[in-house]
Amino acid sequence: MRIDASLAILASLSGVAAFWRLECRGRLAIARLDPLISPGTASLHAHAIHGSSGFNAAATYEDLRNGDCTSCAVTQDMSAYWAPTLYFKHANGSYEEVQQIGGMLAYYMLNKDLKDINKQITAFPNNFRMIAGDSTRRNYSVTGGYSVFEADPPKSRWAEFQQVNQHDLAQRATGFNCLNYNVAAEGALMRHYLPDKAYLDAHCSEGVRFEIAFPSCWNGVDVSTPNHKSHVAYPDLVLNGNCPEGFDVKLPTLMYETIWATHAFNSVPGEFVISNGDTQGFGYHADFMSGWDSEFLQAAVNQCTNLTGRIQDCPLFDVISEDQQRQCKMAAPAILTSEKVTGIIGDSLPGGVVIQYGPEPATGGSNAHTVPVSVAVPTVSYTPGTTASEGNYLPGGVFKESPTSTSVSSSTSSSVSSLSSSAEAEVNALAEPSPSPTPTPIPSDPPVPEGYDLVRTDYVTNGNVVSKIVVIETVEYVVMTTEVVTVTATPEVNKVRRDVHLHHHRHHHGLH
Ligand SMILES: *[C@@H]1O[C@H](CO)[C@@H](O)[C@H](O)[C@H]1NC(C)=O
Ligand SMILES: *[C@@H]1O[C@H](CO)[C@@H](O)[C@H](O)[C@H]1NC(C)=O
Ligand SMILES: *[C@@H]1O[C@H](CO)[C@@H](O)[C@H](O)[C@H]1NC(C)=O
Repeated sequence: MRIDASLAILASLSGVAAFWRLECRGRLAIARLDPLISPGTASLHAHAIHGSSGFNAAATYEDLRNGDCTSCAVTQDMSAYWAPTLYFKHANGSYEEVQQIGGMLAYYMLNKDLKDINKQITAFPNNFRMIAGDSTRRNYSVTGGYSVFEADPPKSRWAEFQQVNQHDLAQRATGFNCLNYNVAAEGALMRHYLPDKAYLDAHCSEGVRFEIAFPSCWNGVDVSTPNHKSHVAYPDLVLNGNCPEGFDVKLPTLMYETIWATHAFNSVPGEFVISNGDTQGFGYHADFMSGWDSEFLQAAVNQCTNLTGRIQDCPLFDVISEDQQRQCKMAAPAILTSEKVTGIIGDSLPGGVVIQYGPEPATGGSNAHTVPVSVAVPTVSYTPGTTASEGNYLPGGVFKESPTSTSVSSSTSSSVSSLSSSAEAEVNALAEPSPSPTPTPIPSDPPVPEGYDLVRTDYVTNGNVVSKIVVIETVEYVVMTTEVVTVTATPEVNKVRRDVHLHHHRHHHGLH
């Protein structure tokens, strides 16, 4: 009841950002293929590949459109999604595949360009391609010398710190989310490095979720460019905000999430290595080739705005079962059939990729000589869910599902019933952005309904607006937009329950 009421209120506001969680439960293959970077040949490192079975070493838009099936949930989506895989290097030097849990999730967020929120979102044109991240990067270096082990400053101050250039934004577009379902969830895109083995062993009892967001501001001309990057740019808050000059066409904001079962190696000596020879995650990257028909996608962007984020709630989408998604596979090309990419794979990464610790850029090729230098060790642990999620608390609940959930939201005033007026106040506040953030009174708690426990309280800061999200029981999906605060909860039981650990939620959350 309460959920429906909140949704109804939020839906009536202008500028609410809708999104879809496009599941890809199936994986076409793990293979050294990358039609963008290494067309027609084996690529440098292995990727987990999802989407259209038309994918191949030199795949074109037509190939993707002509695929027989897709490993993702929506039949009209014949796109290809790929990103590096994760391996574990045992103390004896053998590499072993780390299991990917639940496939992959592509978020399509319909976030507007804050400069002009009346401007519509434009669908990816046919044959659109892009890459997020840089495989050769081996350090974190943002303006002002922030350490990667510090939490990001509040988004409202990035411009002041001159951290809204594309280099800095790209480094803040990755996240390595430590999963432990017995404590409050971390915010998405919060930690920009893969924690080391000791930290993972101690804290991340359900693995690590790799997250990467793509640029969503387009130059409106090129479907791609030679580096598959120059035609697009990040808005100044990564997932939302203002598009830079010359990139005035706003695309859907794409973000991938994959979960890796690092916990299967708990207390086994060794280290985790991403397939491109990166142990710290600075070189994590992802590729996208749109396989949508752009007219269809535009219709979906315009019409599929249900705030649940469920693809089933979009009447245009034909959704297939998880089994059907998993059945969709692709054959490895002849040059790769003998290459071992799963299980124990031997004493080198696929393609002979060597580990390069940086901080200088990786030389990229296989068998490059490198002397391991000491790797920085995290000095700061993130506290789940609170300040580090400022302005950036995303759904992120990828495959985490629980039987019942309810959430209550309040913005600057207090209870759910006043949400409408306070959300309007936020929209007004955004219309006149204040140059320096003024402290805003912390909103008071909405009442916790009888029979529920308070799970946690999150504060989300955006400009001079502080919003408070109070979570009772288990929150499923909390969506933060720059325009308004949107809190949605999936009202019904989701089919797949991935983990029995979820049972702990009700009573084991700490109070904050
Ligand atoms: C290295 O250790 C792993 C884990 O115990 C084992 O599976 C693998 O066979 C070992 N490799 C060699 C070459 O002994
Ligand atoms: C959104 O989807 C839910 C089902 O999950 C449905 O009950 C509701 O009516 C939909 N809302 C709109 C605005 O279509
Ligand atoms: C850090 O990485 C960037 C991008 O790869 C590179 O240009 C820079 O030289 C690196 N810094 C150091 C100290 O190696």
